Amino acid sequence: MKHLISTRNITTKNLGNIFQLANQYKLKGQSDFFSGKIIASIFYEPSTRTRLSFESAALRLGAKVVSTENASQFSSAAKGETLEDTIRIISGYVDAIILRHFEKGASKRASDVSNCPIINAGDGTGEHPTQAILDIYTIYNELRRLDNLKIALVGDLLNGRTIHSLLTLLSLYKDNTIYLISPKELKLPADNLGELSNKKIKFIERDNLEGLLPEIDVLYVTRIQKERFKSKHEYEKVKDSFCLDKKMVLEMQKKSIVMHPLPRINEIAKEVDSDPRAAYFRQAQNGLFVRMAILEILLK
Ligand code: NCD
Repeated sequence: MKHLISTRNITTKNLGNIFQLANQYKLKGQSDFFSGKIIASIFYEPSTRTRLSFESAALRLGAKVVSTENASQFSSAAKGETLEDTIRIISGYVDAIILRHFEKGASKRASDVSNCPIINAGDGTGEHPTQAILDIYTIYNELRRLDNLKIALVGDLLNGRTIHSLLTLLSLYKDNTIYLISPKELKLPADNLGELSNKKIKFIERDNLEGLLPEIDVLYVTRIQKERFKSKHEYEKVKDSFCLDKKMVLEMQKKSIVMHPLPRINEIAKEVDSDPRAAYFRQAQNGLFVRMAILEILLK
């Protein structure tokens, strides 16, 4: 692994290595693996978890961090510099770049000109590979298996980059059934769907959860991606398509889990938080350990 741009070239072996290291970091919290190294986090879009967990991960590994949290305004992008030029320059200063950008494909473009590893921390509606890795790590930690699962992915499947990356990883394991639940305007893009058909994993598209809650092992809820809509009206039409409340969670099996990459808006009621099935805060915490593992493996 030189760069981490997509989940498409990740293997179960790569995941096994990441899980093993992440488990170690969960126990010991830090190491001096990175002392003397410098990591840059360059974010052209808002972030709480991804940026701060990555920066904390780098610091806990003994690295130093330089960052631009609002690169569209506070880097030379505001003066008209291209992403390629910005990355060429920064990659001469640091040992790895964590990049979030509003354009699909931006991380790939960055990796084509970079002298150091690029980690895609979200490229528009494209992918969010490190989120998907921490998601699959969380599923394994909670349920102790990654095959023979029934998983419902709910919400904005069109624009949700976490979904695009996670589906590829779920399709590495056998006998999983994926329910793709979204309003018709926000269905999974044809490309992604085509890829799933090639992999022969079982998937079912629906626009509601009726009858499914008692069946599934994982309910992965996502935010309707307001910032990707052409108009406020289009967003308003679908924004409250799915709202999970306590009553619905009580229909789920005791051993099942509710996940969400966060931030949540209205799609999970706060009353769900105290239910043991609510795994989303544990999921966010896992992000720290998984990102420590990813940094270590990429920079080895
Ligand atoms: C996600 C993202 O940025 O794609 N957030 C995250 O990194 N945890 C999901 C979202 O913003 O809805």
